[in-house]
Amino acid sequence: MTELTRDVVIVGAGPAGLTAANELKKAGLSVAVLEARDRVGGRLWTDTIEGAMLEIGGQWVSPDQDALQETIAELGLETYDRYREGDSVYIGPDGVATRFTGEQFPVAPETERVIAEVTARLDAMVAEIDPDRPWEHENAAEWDTISWEAWLRGQTDDDEAVRNLAFPTGSAMLTKPAHAFSLLQSLLMAASAGSYSNLVDADFILDKRVVGGLQQVPLLLAERLGDDVLLGRPVRTLAWGDDGVTATTDAATVRARYALLAHAPILYSRIQFVPALPRRQHQLHQHLSMGFVIKVHAVYDRPFWREQGLSGTAFSPYELSHEAYDNTNHGDERGTLVGFVSDRNADDVFRLSAHERKARILDSLSHYYGPEARNPIVYYESDWGSEEWTRGAYAASFDLGGLARYGADLRTPVGPIHFACSDMAGAGYQHVDGAIRMGRFAAANIIGQARA
Ligand code: FDA
Repeated sequence: MTELTRDVVIVGAGPAGLTAANELKKAGLSVAVLEARDRVGGRLWTDTIEGAMLEIGGQWVSPDQDALQETIAELGLETYDRYREGDSVYIGPDGVATRFTGEQFPVAPETERVIAEVTARLDAMVAEIDPDRPWEHENAAEWDTISWEAWLRGQTDDDEAVRNLAFPTGSAMLTKPAHAFSLLQSLLMAASAGSYSNLVDADFILDKRVVGGLQQVPLLLAERLGDDVLLGRPVRTLAWGDDGVTATTDAATVRARYALLAHAPILYSRIQFVPALPRRQHQLHQHLSMGFVIKVHAVYDRPFWREQGLSGTAFSPYELSHEAYDNTNHGDERGTLVGFVSDRNADDVFRLSAHERKARILDSLSHYYGPEARNPIVYYESDWGSEEWTRGAYAASFDLGGLARYGADLRTPVGPIHFACSDMAGAGYQHVDGAIRMGRFAAANIIGQARA
């Protein structure tokens, strides 16, 4: 049994925990990071599958994500642009693939007008939301009682407009059905990226990737911590009181003045707290749940779609894979497509055999790119729903009414226990940028307390 004594014990070696650990160390505090998995990075994971380097978790960086960009620059990592030359593809209710350029989907003029009008309305609402405190908006309680779907249906009876307006925060981001979360939650998702229009703009939100993969961020942050990162150590028990904390794993015990829980809030219940957490935390943690999306990687001998003048960017609220992109690695001659199958569609295809699922998903990609899409040389599905230490993708969000009711307490420390995760961020919510911001925020709070 390893027994350690530190100023701070950090649970989770994802970007939030490792950012906090480095900040705390810089401030002269000693740390130990306990990580359940046998690798660092959490939802950032680059692996080689049948000879192809794949980013199984998070990968894209957008221009507003300055906390992530600062970290990337500080670690000396290089970025490159997502391929976006040529036409995008949209598939409407008639199942016909139509090429287009720019941000506006090629829909009927009346549908286009409705989408533009509602988008302007949403941008105005989002501009009033402070992503760090959405519950403080004067309409927060009201906006948290209506589902995103119901609010959109109240704006127009144009079904195609509703589906296109719903998916940027729904299938594409919170990865839950649009009836399962509130208008306020949707506005927070948009506010965390600056505006609803930013979120809709793939060239903005999916702008750059890191050469060699985004998991290098946590890998390099962990390297700086050396032996203070302990892998394969799921924290089972956290005893806490006025004199500090004791975190216990199967093979290690860390005594510390403070604990930082740096993982998805839906996993707090995996830890036994002694004494139990307060009533408020017990309640609020039950109102958060993970979204669910399958990230599908299909690698081909060449990026064949580029020969047809296609950028690889494709959308359809009517397709199994509601969005797909050119995801070819920097300097790779092969071509890679990445598609996403979200919420109920993901449930449905997981009822099929692996063989049938692959065929269904590749068939959906072929509707955008033609029959060649059916024959990749490497095919892989990122299934974070099966990962014990994540349990969904991309992140957690509140149920209807939960954000206004509990949001303000999500980051509130409980005695010596602090919390940090992308799933409680304002700016960068559900993204690596938000994880880094929350890691910095929690570290600053702990440093403040330690010096008081
Ligand atoms: P994260 O979950 O990464 O790390 C928490 C760590 O805690 C994990 O390593 C876990 O094993 C560990 N842990 C949990 N319980 C424990 C216990 N009891 N004891 C010890 N350790 C424990 N973001 C982005 O910016 N751009 C993108 O393109 C994408 N795309 C994307 C795709 C997919 C498929 C996924 C799953 C996610 C993304 N994301 C993303 C989201 C991004 O990956 C995510 O927001 C951050 O990795 C979250 O970082 P955290 O450090 O907050 O948690």
